[in-house]
Amino acid sequence: MTVFPAQRPRRLRRTPAIRRLVAETSLRPSDFVAPLFVAEGLSEPKAILSLPGHVQHTRASLHDEVKTLLGLGVASVILFGVPATKDELGSAAWDRDGVAQVAIRELKDAFGDDLVLMADLCLDEYTTHGHCGVVRGDGSVDNDATIELYARVALAQAEAGADVVAPSGMMDGQVGEIRSALEGAGYDDTIILAYAAKYASGLYGPFREAVGVEIAGGGDRKSYQQDSSNRREALREARADVEEGADIVMVKPAMTYLDVISDVKRELDVPVAAYHVSGEYAMVKAAAANGWIDGTAVAIEQLTAVRRAGADFVLTYFARELAEELSR
Ligand code: PBG
Repeated sequence: MTVFPAQRPRRLRRTPAIRRLVAETSLRPSDFVAPLFVAEGLSEPKAILSLPGHVQHTRASLHDEVKTLLGLGVASVILFGVPATKDELGSAAWDRDGVAQVAIRELKDAFGDDLVLMADLCLDEYTTHGHCGVVRGDGSVDNDATIELYARVALAQAEAGADVVAPSGMMDGQVGEIRSALEGAGYDDTIILAYAAKYASGLYGPFREAVGVEIAGGGDRKSYQQDSSNRREALREARADVEEGADIVMVKPAMTYLDVISDVKRELDVPVAAYHVSGEYAMVKAAAANGWIDGTAVAIEQLTAVRRAGADFVLTYFARELAEELSR
């Protein structure tokens, strides 16, 4: 006898019921937020090849998808608009009749408060150059001119009925500017979910296909999104966002920044979200399609890791698939 009777952790792993009883982390459909794309001028949903199982929705197919998600216990979605025409400033982002605003209005009419409706707040889907803000003559992005436009987008989204606006552009002061615009117009119940620590990542590739964004001149977002070398900087970003009026802070991507999720959860007392992004989804799907991994098992393992690191909820393209799986 070399093992002491007290040192048998395997006792707690013997059956599925015991394992569930002692599980430190849970993963439920209500932990997921489903990212959805709605495109202007489509007559039928259009497949997004690098995000298998996902489409650019028509307004009708968007409605049906949200209904299905609600039936599965996924009550939160984040909406991205794909406009028919773009311009230099991205004006369709704050147009009352812009594709996102029209869809928000319709979803709120149909589902009311059963649905937590989040609107991604950015300009890149709407600008000809694909940057998240106003581009100056020398190609740089003008921070202060950009956040004035973000305030307009926030008002348009709030007016349309969004419960949550989610600024994702990583401009300095964006949350404060949006909060004061919302307060000034009487939208004091509109929640701000700040993409607080958003890294300049190679994992957004499929998303850019999904929304038809190409950054002009082969450019990148390194002058506004965070550098992957930095950990402490994320806390500075997240604290600033909370001081400026964010209700929820988010870390993005997820798997490559579990340390950051853990730090933000420990240091701040607001809810923490994480975005398991398009490239993270696509990698699992591609390997599974080759028969190299069990995609569902890996998806559950990854999203459990994100929750274990400290995320209260997760934006994930696996929302529907895993909600179906978890309800089996
Ligand atoms: C910007 C935005 C991006 C994503 C969400 N909001 C792209 C970017 O910063 O280039 C990426 C989401 C994903 O990859 O799933 N509007």
